[in-house]
Amino acid sequence: MNKLSIVGAGMVGEAAAQVIAREELCRELMLIDVQGELAQGKALDVWQAAVESGSDTRVIGGSDAQMLQGSELVVITAGVPRKPGQSRQDVLSINLPILDSILADIRRHAPTATLLVVSNPVDVLTYRAWSVSGLGRDKVFGQAGVLDTARMKCFIAEQTGFSARDITALVLGGHGDSMVPLMRYCAVGSVPLAHFLSTEQIERIVQRTRQGGGEILGLKKLGSACDAPGVAIAQMVDAIANGRNRILPTVAILDGEYGRKDIAMGVPCVLAGGGIERVIELPLDAQEQAMFDHSADQVMRDIAEMKAL
Ligand code: LAC
Repeated sequence: MNKLSIVGAGMVGEAAAQVIAREELCRELMLIDVQGELAQGKALDVWQAAVESGSDTRVIGGSDAQMLQGSELVVITAGVPRKPGQSRQDVLSINLPILDSILADIRRHAPTATLLVVSNPVDVLTYRAWSVSGLGRDKVFGQAGVLDTARMKCFIAEQTGFSARDITALVLGGHGDSMVPLMRYCAVGSVPLAHFLSTEQIERIVQRTRQGGGEILGLKKLGSACDAPGVAIAQMVDAIANGRNRILPTVAILDGEYGRKDIAMGVPCVLAGGGIERVIELPLDAQEQAMFDHSADQVMRDIAEMKAL
């Protein structure tokens, strides 16, 4: 990839920039923030770290929206993180106008760029970015499930004692307490998880995964998770930049899949050079579909709240 921009030089934007630059996923990486000098300082630091790792990705920071020009992909991480005790939806009224002004900048300077939304509430803001940008649903999507899945893999590794390398996991639904971990699709070395863990143990892992972001927030207090979200973003960027056809849980606009339309939700998607190549519709059993519907209803309420603002 030639040029990629990250808008929002907070902790998550910086963490993503570090991995993207180190792994040389693009030639030029813009780190853009309303606090221009902060973005410049972080960009210099990230660039110098990348050079130490043998990468030639040039990282440039600043506040000028013109920096977006020519970007193939724009990652949006700008906005305030929630505070301990808040839900992701609680930051909507602050983060929505921030997103809207970024979308106006993108429309002016990089109208055909693919958009990867990370700011919270991510399902609602991905929906907003899609509806405002006029781009196809292949070009506008969000990050949540790669992170949620990584969390679940950690807890499965801890509980089973097996290498996280051999663990596959899948999380659908909204990025919140109603997310839908699909335990039937979780395995260690291709062996279904139920072979190793009891229903109660699996249920505890599900609960901890649902509250994974809140657990970190409650401990750090002044900021939410950033390192794992940064790596999750970089994985999605890598799939696009290298046209890998990876199947990754992605916040995607649904058009009838899973019985839903006009909503942004976490579902498995094929990510390739052009963005979302395909939404994968898995057959869900009655209980899984009920959990999915519960999550979708919650996201629909959140989207309605956004539309009323
Ligand atoms: C989390 C926030 C970043 O899940 O949504 O940690």
